[in-house]
Amino acid sequence: MRNVLITTFVRKLIVRVLTPHNIAVFASGAGSNTRELLQHFSSHPSVNIRLVVSNKPDAGVLQVAKEFKIPTLVNADLAFYESNCIGEMLAEQEVEFIVLAGFLLKVPDSLVAQYNGKMINIHPALLPKFGGKGMYGNRVHSAVKEQQESETGITIHFVNEHYDEGQVIFQASCPVLPTDTVEDIKRKVQDLEHAHFAKVVEKVVTGGL
Ligand code: GRF
Repeated sequence: MRNVLITTFVRKLIVRVLTPHNIAVFASGAGSNTRELLQHFSSHPSVNIRLVVSNKPDAGVLQVAKEFKIPTLVNADLAFYESNCIGEMLAEQEVEFIVLAGFLLKVPDSLVAQYNGKMINIHPALLPKFGGKGMYGNRVHSAVKEQQESETGITIHFVNEHYDEGQVIFQASCPVLPTDTVEDIKRKVQDLEHAHFAKVVEKVVTGGL
């Protein structure tokens, strides 16, 4: 009996680790998180970053994707993301998860529904604080400083139809000192992002979370 249980457990583990999973990363900025993701998954046995999607033709993330020889899709038009076209294209490419790594457009409800529980975002603060429409980049860190917070951090969460309100998967925090500038806060938060994002994505995608 014990042997049967162990064999079943090992079999499930092997299936979980080796089932191929394709990810599309959506990003609008410099791409430092995308770089971490690409590095982390570059020789992964079962997780592939299939595509980098951007709404900004001049985003640094496109250069990062090029360095890693990952195909890119650039479209600045919100209507494109709202159309069925993107969802169909991702399905055709067997994309199972979407990871938002600094994507500044609101993802339309149709795509959120298609990737329900399979779309992950990273936010540079401890949600529910400092989230919502218009809260991105240095606006978040400036607000943290203005409100004299003693800590901030990162939130990795599933995406639902409301800005920054999906189920939290992971949070990590760092202290904010009264002497910290907005740039200092940004750097501390970025360090947390780079340390945790890819590992958490891996756990979600391979079924470990
Ligand atoms: C990160 O701070 C992330 O939390 C936010 O957008 C920023 C993207 O930075 N959602 P980068 O383009 O990955 O350097």
